[in-house]
Amino acid sequence: VSTEKFKSSLSLIMENIIITKATGDDLEVLKTIGKLTFFETFSLENTEDNMQKYLDEEFAHEKLKEQLEDRNSEFYFASIDKKIIGYLKLNFAGSQTELKDNNAIEIERIYVLKDYHGKNAGQLLYNKAIEIAMLSGVDYVWLGVWEKNLRAIQFYKKNGLVEFDKHIFMLGEDKQIDIMMKLQLNAKKEI
Ligand SMILES: CC(C)(COP(=O)(O)OP(=O)(O)OC[C@H]1O[C@@H](n2cnc3c(N)ncnc32)[C@H](O)[C@@H]1OP(=O)(O)O)[C@@H](O)C(=O)NCCC(=O)NCCS
Repeated sequence: VSTEKFKSSLSLIMENIIITKATGDDLEVLKTIGKLTFFETFSLENTEDNMQKYLDEEFAHEKLKEQLEDRNSEFYFASIDKKIIGYLKLNFAGSQTELKDNNAIEIERIYVLKDYHGKNAGQLLYNKAIEIAMLSGVDYVWLGVWEKNLRAIQFYKKNGLVEFDKHIFMLGEDKQIDIMMKLQLNAKKEI
């Protein structure tokens, strides 16, 4: 770990990044952080039309409301001094986008505002996912990540996730490849 990176992480730890579970009242803030982080992450590499279509569909009021009320999904926020800087979405059982394995949890979204990358917020959200997976007693966690999202792939690799498959993901009209990665939590079992 470089000195600069260490200092930057330390200053934010001192600023106190808090992880809290979202409730039904958080729909508007969830919509805001969801759209903003998605846009920041993918707008440079995707057409405006495809981005707009995705944002309109995936962050539509009704869709998010349903997800917040879903007993098989959970959202968590990372915040500093009440400012939300990132969020996590976990899916259990039948609410996973694929696999739908009762012995697994999907990390569907882990998104941090650009200004806060490399400052431990992503790590704290990820740690929360692992904590919940351990408490739930599932065998593994898994996720899909765009093959061109090198920073996220590197982040997952350093956290021990390994590639196990590749799937097609539609961003608007654009067919993209997602790398599927997983972390086995129960060493005795293999999927
Ligand atoms: C994914 C995310 C949560 C990770 O959090 P983070 O704070 O950025 O993570 P870190 O800085 O600890 O780790 C990122 C790693 O990628 C490396 N990295 C940075 N830029 C990179 C690049 N362009 N290519 C490859 N690796 C890169 C970093 O050096 C670091 O690895 P290291 O610690 O071994 O040096 C955060 O980057 C994020 O929110 N990104 C935007 C949303 C997103 O892409 N979410 C994932 C969707 S599947």
